[in-house]
Amino acid sequence: MKNILIVSGHTDTVTDSVANRTILEILAEQLPECQIDYLDRLYPDFKIDTAAEQAKLLWADVVVLQFPVFWFSFPSIMHRWMEQTFLHGFSHGSAGDKLHGKKLILSYTTGAPAEVMNFDEFFGFVRAACQFTGMEYGGSITTGGVSYQMREDPQMMSEIKKKASVHADKLIAILHQA
Ligand SMILES: Cc1cc2nc3c(=O)[nH]c(=O)nc-3n(C[C@H](O)[C@H](O)[C@H](O)COP(=O)(O)O)c2cc1C
Repeated sequence: MKNILIVSGHTDTVTDSVANRTILEILAEQLPECQIDYLDRLYPDFKIDTAAEQAKLLWADVVVLQFPVFWFSFPSIMHRWMEQTFLHGFSHGSAGDKLHGKKLILSYTTGAPAEVMNFDEFFGFVRAACQFTGMEYGGSITTGGVSYQMREDPQMMSEIKKKASVHADKLIAILHQA
């Protein structure tokens, strides 16, 4: 299998996540050779270690961005990670070819049910960034209807976990073929 880096952009996977935490736990168990980058745990102060993050990207053949949609976009810490890691001379610019040929896959969850909205439309900026950096856009895996508001109800809670587990299985199948 190729080197897989999973970048988790949830702002709190310790105390305030069900869907993303479940997906990440399953990935860690099923794909022990992949590297999981918990941005919230590494950088609670948003001070991204550029060299460390660039080294992980250099190692990776496939990069999965795992996150909950916040306001039709990445959560803030994932934007910060991109701002501090995809730098001129590394990812772009005349000598910035370090991401060329690497595959980038989006894996995200939304509160809105999947049939309500096609969130991929909002991630045109990711496809543009792939084009700009020479990365190959590998598409998205999405799960809707997993709102944090559902957590009060135990039945809904188990529904979120079930959906997260289906999501993780789909992602793992794709990664096995990547
Ligand atoms: C600040 C904030 C903004 C959100 N914005 C959206 C949104 O734009 N669209 C949407 O469908 N869900 C939105 N949600 C719901 C989250 O996407 C949902 O709670 C999350 O995917 C559940 O994953 P988790 O259990 O790992 O936290 C938002 C949640 C928060 C906390």
